[in-house]
Amino acid sequence: MRIERELEGLRAATGAWRAAGRRIALVPTMGALHAGHLALVAEARRRAEIVITSIFVNPLQFLPHEDLARYPRDEAGDLEKLRAAGCDLAWMPTPAVMYPPGAATVVEPAGPAEGWEGDERPGHFRGVATVCTKLFMMTGADVAVFGEKDWQQLQVIRRVVADLHLPLEIVGLPTVRDADGLALSSRNQRLSPEQRARAAALPRRLRAVAKALAEGRPAAPTLAEAREGLAADGFGVDYLALVVPHTLKPWTEGQHGEARLLATARLGEVRLLDNLPVFLRG
Ligand code: PAF
Repeated sequence: MRIERELEGLRAATGAWRAAGRRIALVPTMGALHAGHLALVAEARRRAEIVITSIFVNPLQFLPHEDLARYPRDEAGDLEKLRAAGCDLAWMPTPAVMYPPGAATVVEPAGPAEGWEGDERPGHFRGVATVCTKLFMMTGADVAVFGEKDWQQLQVIRRVVADLHLPLEIVGLPTVRDADGLALSSRNQRLSPEQRARAAALPRRLRAVAKALAEGRPAAPTLAEAREGLAADGFGVDYLALVVPHTLKPWTEGQHGEARLLATARLGEVRLLDNLPVFLRG
């Protein structure tokens, strides 16, 4: 597996692959890789001859009060996992390569970036959209694979790619979960053993809400009960909402079809994100 930290090296590799007619898949990550990321790499492998995984903890998507320095990092462990997963190139730019002195251009997403995480973390999706656009341009990938765990992020990226006519396909992969249902996330490492045991209540309550809604229970009281239940389980609930899957607009009572249940809840300082598809019958 090649490891590149400078744009020249990355471009030499991708230029040669493209000249040989190889299809390139990109898996953008911030490192601290777990089985969820490796499922993205495996999907990338199925979709292209060449797999590039980027590891870059993107300062632009952290808010001033969010602790960028405390984001989990494990470069040696990540590279080992990527080698074992059959990744062809690890793209590990430094912040100065990604944002050279004087860099001033950003991608400001709207539409699905509005509300939910967009409200909780103002500027976060600007950082995500900017870095992903740069990663797409730097690698010239034909396809990029993202997890559905960050559902809103995936919709923002799809919108940016469509709006900027970027010539790549975006693939979303269902969330990978631990045996007790908790969505895999690098943030789970920061849960204490007691919090980790409690965290499974989040997916459990989401499944119960999805089932109740699919059976025809009205959304507003079902969501309100689940919020109270999560608070009783010890979570600080940032939001638990039913939305239109691709626009992220709030679901209106009486609407039918495919919806998405979104939740963000805190255990101590750790924010856990999760979501599930829900089908509401007419
Ligand atoms: O989901 C993530 O890990 C990050 O938001 C991403 C897409 C790698 C951009 O920094």
